[in-house]
Amino acid sequence: GNFNETQQKILKLKKEKNALILAHFYVPLEVQDIADIVGDSFEMAKRAKEAEEDLIVICGVRFMGEGAKILSPDKKVLVPAIDAGCPMADMVTVEDVLRLKAEHPDAAVMAYVNSSAAVKSVADICCTSSSAVRIAKSQDADEIIFVPDMHLAEYTAGKVPEKKFILHTGFCPTHHRITEADILAAKKAHPDAKIAVHPECRADVVKHADFIGSTAEILRFSRETDAREFIIGTEMEIAARLQREVPEKKFYSVTSAFVCPNMKKNTLQAVLNCLENEEYEIRLDEAEAAAARRSLERMVSC
Ligand code: 13P
Ligand code: SF4
Repeated sequence: GNFNETQQKILKLKKEKNALILAHFYVPLEVQDIADIVGDSFEMAKRAKEAEEDLIVICGVRFMGEGAKILSPDKKVLVPAIDAGCPMADMVTVEDVLRLKAEHPDAAVMAYVNSSAAVKSVADICCTSSSAVRIAKSQDADEIIFVPDMHLAEYTAGKVPEKKFILHTGFCPTHHRITEADILAAKKAHPDAKIAVHPECRADVVKHADFIGSTAEILRFSRETDAREFIIGTEMEIAARLQREVPEKKFYSVTSAFVCPNMKKNTLQAVLNCLENEEYEIRLDEAEAAAARRSLERMVSC
């Protein structure tokens, strides 16, 4: 390939150190380009669990690094940006989950992977946006406590009407900021475009979509659907990736403000520093990680 100087240094070090680099689709394209695997949250977790390399670098946000460490506890797991967190993951606490459990003792607790290791440790099972419906259906319980994303919970509840959902109040600031007026304006500007959105969007945004899915699913839908224009209702790097991959189609982000600032902390320079200095290492409380592993492994094998 045509790699710049920093990318070449990263690729050389990656080889020397036998490192596996996993990246999320929201990190800058130039970082996606040096990764071994780019995926949605589910694919990243699955791949981290199967890793044979001694060193795993997770280009994403903190819960993704923690997830890799939980699933591959004997590996050294590094993240390039120590302060790249997910604000939604910080919206739910262990106390919130325990209170909901006390109020609904027969309910199963589903924790969206966008949550801390501590919250996962008190959940029955984890899920991602691509697996939430399947996992909810797989539960024996008739009631499901879903934390933290109220929008993904509402979307999942709509697809699994046979169960009662108990919602939390969390949301993704990046997706929540997009309003119905934004989607209607984008539709007016591009009336022939197909609309693909992430289920972290508000219900009144999701209802205008032709397709609803995870980042990887939105990419697949947009590549495979026979239309010339697409409005992409998730973080802007997805539209950028599609535009580069499929130049004969047109991809429009719903607004130019559809950015996850934490994902953007994964710069090439940060990845180079990460490999050179083997920082920042994810360390977890072992008992907590063991309890969280049960929930994550149930998700991965469901
Ligand atoms: P995906 O699992 O769809 O990649 O979503 C992760 C995420 O953080 C979306 O905001
Ligand atoms: Fe978290 Fe939203 Fe960023 Fe995804 S886009 S990592 S949910 S803040």
